[in-house]
Amino acid sequence: MAKKVTAPAIRAMKGSGQQVVSLTAYDYTSGLLADQSGVEIVLVGDSLGTVIQGQTSTVPVTLSEVVYHVRAARRGVERALFVADMPFGSYGSSVSQAVDSAVQLVRNGAEAVKLEGTYTEEVKAIVRTGVPVMGHIGMTPQSIHAIGGHRVQGRGDAASRLIDQAKALEDAGVFSIVLELTTSETSERVTKAVGVPTIGIGAGPHCDGQIQVFHDLLGLYPVQFKHSKRYANGRTVFLRALRRYANDVREGKFPEKEQSF
Ligand code: KIV
Repeated sequence: MAKKVTAPAIRAMKGSGQQVVSLTAYDYTSGLLADQSGVEIVLVGDSLGTVIQGQTSTVPVTLSEVVYHVRAARRGVERALFVADMPFGSYGSSVSQAVDSAVQLVRNGAEAVKLEGTYTEEVKAIVRTGVPVMGHIGMTPQSIHAIGGHRVQGRGDAASRLIDQAKALEDAGVFSIVLELTTSETSERVTKAVGVPTIGIGAGPHCDGQIQVFHDLLGLYPVQFKHSKRYANGRTVFLRALRRYANDVREGKFPEKEQSF
């Protein structure tokens, strides 16, 4: 096995000139594919709410649902740092709720957790417990009702607010920070302002790394977003194969001798 990626190793990539390549995964098969592609970080994202469950947002996702997917994806991921998302409602009530949720994710296989917003006391307490934490600022999908939609963040005066948030998270002890849907200019400023890697999604080319959703990258999700690029046309490939299968069965061409006993 290639050298195991750890949270301190990700932290140390800042300024190395090497990008932190990250991808989501939700089960054994996607975890295995993501890991074998050689990315540094595999995240069980609460985006499972949309791409796996077909919900319109990540808000309904529960901690036990993330745990289920962590256990499944874990079996496919050996080399990459394996991070789990803390879903909505699993850290907002108190510091002890946040620590308990993080501990549950780690007991089920996560090597680090990610949470949205500037919950600095929660981050400090989780880090003190021995669990590396990834921050997530900019467009934070769990706050979709408060934000009012998937809006690009960090324009104008909001840029300095994002920089302050990133610095506060760094001070609290995060090993990296996801920047979601922020202007390229603001991401560049945030990236220069902090000593931990920034990992962008819809945040332009100036971050220290990038993260994408598995289904978006492979063209499996029916909607295409401006922030993602399809590296395969998965839906077309899969639908063609599935229709061939259906036709073959209907026409008596499957199974053949080779598939029979
Ligand atoms: O849930 C998720 O997949 C994420 C990434 C897109 C950053 O939070």
